[in-house]
Parts: sequence; structure tokens; C-alpha cells
Amino acid sequence: MIHPEYHGNIRAMTSNSQPDNHHPLTQLTVRQSQSQMAEVVLPNDANPLGNLLGGRLMHLIDIAGALAAHRHSHSHVVTASMDHIDFREPVHIGDLLILKSSVNRAFHTSMETGVKCWVENYIAGTTRHVASAYLTFVAVDHHGKAKSVLPVAPETDEEKRRFDDAGRRRELRKQEQARSKARDNG
Ligand SMILES: CC(C)(COP(=O)(O)OP(=O)(O)OC[C@H]1O[C@@H](n2cnc3c(N)ncnc32)[C@H](O)[C@@H]1OP(=O)(O)O)[C@@H](O)C(=O)NCCC(=O)NCCS
Repeated sequence: MIHPEYHGNIRAMTSNSQPDNHHPLTQLTVRQSQSQMAEVVLPNDANPLGNLLGGRLMHLIDIAGALAAHRHSHSHVVTASMDHIDFREPVHIGDLLILKSSVNRAFHTSMETGVKCWVENYIAGTTRHVASAYLTFVAVDHHGKAKSVLPVAPETDEEKRRFDDAGRRRELRKQEQARSKARDNG
């Protein structure tokens, strides 16, 4: 069934994801938009102790999250929010940083994206998890107006858990937004 909120051209939108245009997609799997990027930490990215700046990591997380959101929506996107970012361990100059992003769930025009960051020690062949974050992106048209996106079809147990968790986090975000609005008006 076509997503009730979707008003775009599904065939055009999914032409890269599905070769057979006679059966247009009505939803996308997590795998279809999952993205990964790598970055070597340079001195310009670091504080005087040689640790990657938190703001620089947030910038990279934003880009990594946007990659998956772009691929899911086949659209321009804007970052609506970034929440629950954990800086678990420091990242040092010279480290190879890997950022992996997935769309956990798509709502009407927005998508919650999870970004997980590792440092890969290519000499020892080990990795360590250094940070994670959730971001919400909104698909927009050329005028910056929000536009609908296809839903996510989670396949694995892990993807289903993230899908359910994303729904709970959306409710919490909405409650926080309502509180913030009430404070602004009060
Ligand atoms: C995000 C933005 C497009 C929302 O536009 P809007 O006119 O407020 O649209 P709506 O209120 O109809 O919300 C559209 C969607 O955004 C979501 N949204 C809006 N604000 C949000 C927030 N702070 N966190 C998470 N989601 C948010 C809504 O839940 C809605 O999702 P849904 O359609 O899936 O239900 C708009 O606020 C904007 O352009 N913000 C600036 C974005 C930007 O410049 N980002 C870069 C950082 S400076």
C-alpha cells in the first residue's frame, strides 16, 4: 500500500533502488539507505591535548546522518534536531574514524537516523566504539517546504527494535517541544 502521506513520484524517487519500475516501491529497507564514511583525524580537528573536538565530531555525525536520510528520501534534507549524543571515549589525531548511519524510522516528512562512530586501529585490526547519536532530518523541496517520505521496512530483530525505540523517542521529543513552546509563551 502506498504511504498515505506520500504525494511524490514514487517511480522517479525509487529508480536507483529498484530496477523494475513496473513494481514501484512503497517502502524502503534500512539496508537501502545505510551509509558509511571514513575520516582521518588531523591536527586542525583537535584540541591542544590532541583529542578530536566534540563540535567537529558532531559536524561529521551530521553529515553521516544526512547521507542515509538523503538516500532514504531521494531528496534534499535539513537537520531538525540532534539528540542523545554520547561521547564515550576520546578520539586522537591520526585515528581513522568510521561513521555508520541508518534511518531507524521514517514518519511523515521526518526520519530518525542513528549514527554510530568507531575508531579503527588498522595496525592491530581492532575497533572501538567512540560515540553514538540520533538525529532527525526532514525532507524538503527546493523551497525548503517539508515533503513526505516513504516508510522504513525493518527486516532484522535489531532494526525492528530500533524502529520501535525511534517511535518512543519521537513521543519524548514532541513532549519536550511542547514544554519548550509553553515556556516561550509563558
Ligand atoms: C525542520 C523544519 C523543516 C520543520 O519545518 P516546520 O514548518 O516546522 O514543519 P512541521 O512543524 O510541519 O514539521 C515537519 C516535520 O519536522 C518534524 N520536526 C520539526 N521540528 C522538529 C524537531 N525540533 N525535532 C525533530 N523533529 C522535528 C516534525 O515532527 C514533522 O515531522 P513529521 O512530518 O514526520 O511528523 C524547519 O523548522 C526548518 O527548516 N528548520 C531549520 C533547519 C535547519 O536549518 N537545519 C540546519 C541547522 S541550523
